[in-house]
Amino acid sequence: MDRNLALEFVRVTEAAALSAARWMGRGDEKGADQAAVDAMRKAFNIVDIDGTIVIGEGERDEAPMLYIGEEVGTKNGPRVDIALDPLEGTTITANGGYNATSVIAVAEKGRFLHAPDTYMDKLAVGPQAKGMLNIEDPVEVNLKRLAKALDKYMEDIVVCILDRPRHEELIKQVRAAGCRIKLISDGDVSGALACCMEDSPVDILLGIGGAPEGVLSAAALKCLGGDFQGRLKWRNEEEKERAKDMGITDPEKVYTMDELAGGHVMFCATGVTDGEFLKGVHFTPRGAKTHSMVMRSKSRTIRWIHTEHHFDYKPTY
Ligand code: FBP
Repeated sequence: MDRNLALEFVRVTEAAALSAARWMGRGDEKGADQAAVDAMRKAFNIVDIDGTIVIGEGERDEAPMLYIGEEVGTKNGPRVDIALDPLEGTTITANGGYNATSVIAVAEKGRFLHAPDTYMDKLAVGPQAKGMLNIEDPVEVNLKRLAKALDKYMEDIVVCILDRPRHEELIKQVRAAGCRIKLISDGDVSGALACCMEDSPVDILLGIGGAPEGVLSAAALKCLGGDFQGRLKWRNEEEKERAKDMGITDPEKVYTMDELAGGHVMFCATGVTDGEFLKGVHFTPRGAKTHSMVMRSKSRTIRWIHTEHHFDYKPTY
């Protein structure tokens, strides 16, 4: 994949973040999401790719823009598949909370799992624990392996978990194992990324979140040298049946990071609200500052991009 495209993708997530950030704290999740979608769609128009969205805002009949199967880009460029979430953390943005981002991942054709819009049980760790844990093993066993891999005491391990009633049992198990917990309100893509960040207290992400976000997390962790496993979690039989049409033949399968995001991938994120490793959009007189990261699995390059935007000289946000 052309490395020069990296900056083009940053422009796309920047555009979405700039628009969504205007909705911070307004209590309007839909408005915030729509602003991000509109801006992202527009920004894609001038990117030189022949792109197809495989993880997007939903099926064609339920999402007018950035739907699964929609083609984006000028078509004067490489054929790629795109996984995106224009606003990862709609509730966070509506509440003016922490860690909302705009994210896209790009892969060669056919290399992303076409994940249905259901849940996924996830396990994410950083490079030191790569290949050492298995999502099918008991929580305590995995945490002991992790402590060994990181050369830490069990009581120093921090497990990131989405704060949901469905995680009551998982939380009990982690506490019984003697580890600490960081509960997050939303945004488990950031939670997964945090496992790979040197300055982050998070050592592992466990629990159930959105399946599309699982694919995005796998792409990100691939670039960061971490590890990710996921197993689809069905809300009902109908979802399982529909997934069969999308090519999911084994509904209980554990997906490896490469099965979720294969080949060379690129991942790009811009902060919408302030977060652990990405600053949110800060508006300035007649402009704004954004903070983004863009990385490629092929080179493992991670670029942190601070941008100063001057609205008098570019499209309105
Ligand atoms: P959106 O903001 O895109 O809706 O996703 C936020 C999020 O917290 C994801 O990070 C997470 O994977 C998913 O929602 C969890 O779903 P639920 O809120 O239904 O538990």
